[in-house]
Amino acid sequence: MDGVTDVTFRHVMATYGRPDVLFTEFTNVHDICHGSRAGWEPLRYSECERPIVAQLYGKHPALFYKAAHVIGELGFDGLDINMGCPSKNVASSGSGAGLIRTPDLALEIMASTKQGLADWAQGQTLEEIGLKKSAIHQAKERNQVRWGGSEPPPRRRLPLTVKTRLGYDSVVINEWSDCLAQGQPEVISIHGRTLQQMYRGEADWEAIANATQVIHRHGILVLGNGDIRSLNEAANRIHTSGVDGILIGRAAQGNPWIFQGKDLIRNATQNLNSGPLIQPRISLESRFQMMINHAVLFESFNETPRFPRMRKHLGWYCSEFPYAAAMRANMVKTNTAQEVQRLLDEYTSQHVLTEQEALSASY
Ligand SMILES: Cc1cc2nc3c(=O)[nH]c(=O)nc-3n(C[C@H](O)[C@H](O)[C@H](O)COP(=O)(O)O)c2cc1C
Repeated sequence: MDGVTDVTFRHVMATYGRPDVLFTEFTNVHDICHGSRAGWEPLRYSECERPIVAQLYGKHPALFYKAAHVIGELGFDGLDINMGCPSKNVASSGSGAGLIRTPDLALEIMASTKQGLADWAQGQTLEEIGLKKSAIHQAKERNQVRWGGSEPPPRRRLPLTVKTRLGYDSVVINEWSDCLAQGQPEVISIHGRTLQQMYRGEADWEAIANATQVIHRHGILVLGNGDIRSLNEAANRIHTSGVDGILIGRAAQGNPWIFQGKDLIRNATQNLNSGPLIQPRISLESRFQMMINHAVLFESFNETPRFPRMRKHLGWYCSEFPYAAAMRANMVKTNTAQEVQRLLDEYTSQHVLTEQEALSASY
């Protein structure tokens, strides 16, 4: 999620939640090929995140071809194409969910990306494809840090996946899925809303279920997405829609614990929606510890002036405990992890909570 799932957030999720796979924020293929430092920021990742998939967006097949080489070179485990972003400056320019309106271009982009991944796996270099010097330099610099002096892992053909929505202004997911399947991605992820809906209303899981049948006929896996707030809901949606897995977005904000217990639902064959919550209850102490861990980690990955980007995460952790709103109001003004620690200490010294109060629900 753009502006949310940065390297620090994903590190926290990987360490404390351990989801099966993580995706980067979407990254513009033009920025990748241009080689600007800011443009490459979403492509930072740590080893603990594996398998880690880079998500790209854009509308020029030739840029996807080159960007695919970069994603291979940087050691990612997969490449996902965003065909679902509804934001005006992305979709109205023909990228993201805008591609739903130009299926031929979408297929061309997939073909070009696949070719890029294949050629990279065969040994083609960034120099050979004429990538800008600044981009080549950054790739070398990053790999020097990642692999040190040792050899990077052998090249392999990375899987290509696509994430999309139900349609542009109406639900066309069955036809759209049939079209996407021609591009032979390994996985199609579906957010159960149209572009026009943005994030309004509820995700349409019936439409996801119908599309899943269409996509499965092509032997392609489906990940369903939209409004999942617990592993119980995830298990229920898997059971009733037939999807092969679930993507969780907003419910993971301030809640890395949401992924704990995923192994319990992996083989669940019954509706778990009405059963007890799989997710463990999180003590206030653990929640506070997570806030400070996240803040300290953020500082280790970023320069101090970037700390304001951490504030929203701190705000998300502040819920479901006494005086959480007051704590949130202060947390979103912090500038350092030290200030976060001071607020947590103040809270602990000012509020003596009953055992019941201290055991907060985790979302
Ligand atoms: C702030 C924000 C940024 C997002 N950025 C991306 C993105 O970069 N790539 C993407 O595939 N989806 C993005 N999404 C959509 C989510 O991945 C997800 O499809 C959507 O929020 C529905 O799932 P959820 O109900 O589990 O959050 C974003 C959503 C939000 C709220």
